[in-house]
Amino acid sequence: MMNSFKEHIYVTRPLLPNLDKVASRMRDIWESKWITNTGYQHKELEKQLKEFLNVEQLSLFNNGTSALILGLKALEIKGEVITTPFTFPATLQALDWNGLTPVFCDIDENLLNIDPNKIEQLITEKTSAILGVHVFGNPCDVERIQYIANQYGLKVIYDGAHAFGTEYAGRPIGSFGDMTMYSFHATKLFNTVEGGALAFKGDLLKGKLDLLKNFGIAGPEEVVLSGLNAKMNEIQAAIGLEVLKLVEEERERREKIKEVYEKNLDGIEGIRIVTQLKGMSNSYQYFVIEIDEERYGKSRDWVHEELKKYNVFTRKYFYPLCSDFKWYQHLDSSQASNLPIAKKAAKRVLAMPFYGELLEEHVESICHLLVNFSCLSELAI
Ligand SMILES: Cc1ncc(COP(=O)(O)O)c(C=O)c1O
Repeated sequence: MMNSFKEHIYVTRPLLPNLDKVASRMRDIWESKWITNTGYQHKELEKQLKEFLNVEQLSLFNNGTSALILGLKALEIKGEVITTPFTFPATLQALDWNGLTPVFCDIDENLLNIDPNKIEQLITEKTSAILGVHVFGNPCDVERIQYIANQYGLKVIYDGAHAFGTEYAGRPIGSFGDMTMYSFHATKLFNTVEGGALAFKGDLLKGKLDLLKNFGIAGPEEVVLSGLNAKMNEIQAAIGLEVLKLVEEERERREKIKEVYEKNLDGIEGIRIVTQLKGMSNSYQYFVIEIDEERYGKSRDWVHEELKKYNVFTRKYFYPLCSDFKWYQHLDSSQASNLPIAKKAAKRVLAMPFYGELLEEHVESICHLLVNFSCLSELAI
């Protein structure tokens, strides 16, 4: 039996900037006495991220969820929104907070994103938008989705929480659709501890979003929209400016780790790598596999539990499906018969440890365990 790892190996670790450099920015903030409401750090981060992500307009938020809530509000989405059940709860909760009804669409078997072949049959006279999620940083089929949206006059919004730096056909992912949300939560490739942003086009929308995230306050005695407090503060922005400097190097390290996984998992019957893209550039935010119990010999749940015995902590991401939440049970589109691929994926996916500091020999040992699990009896592992 292989020994357990001495230290716990988690699914991810936050990218932490140099503490002295953060302290120096903190000193500047203290001296300025400007700690929130679009100070210097906020302005600088917004500018730098706009360039980094190569998008026309960008607005920062205190997290990705409030960004999506206010993005949907700014676009004046009404009625029904066609979306995926294979996502994090926040995607659906942003619809709930806007009083919108989700219509669940099944996903495609390969990238596990909303399946454009199944969207059209779900459109009714109440449909106003398609909300796609670039799951694990793999881009949705943005061209087909836009084509459908144009035919029916629908808006297109993307939850790009996983898609920091993803490109589609050489174009930045945030340039597709009407709006893209990014999350800068600690677990994301780029983080501001908590934080998020929207990418979109046009000065009008920029003005509206900047109002919405600050209670709709237009002047000392003027409130023009019903908004929210969803501003990113100066501390978050300062940390973000230091983390941003580390992102390229982190991506390079993760690329190497991805290669070690790919080399060692290649050819294991019943294991498929979901984040192995051909000809597209991923965000390197996750490394996710799918386990087919029949062919592999063990279930995803078994592997998830067994790895814990070796101090390896993986994540069933995404599980459960959002369509299984009890408050959506009355919807026709929540029924299992409408979502066969999503149902299957939720039982099979497993996010593996993936972060720059992960040692390559540890990745090899984890893969070795996966090989052993499949071909040996439980006693022999
Ligand atoms: C797909 C997806 N959407 C939305 C969110 C929510 O983002 P935040 O935590 O920044 O609110 C997350 C995760 O954190 C996510 O994975």
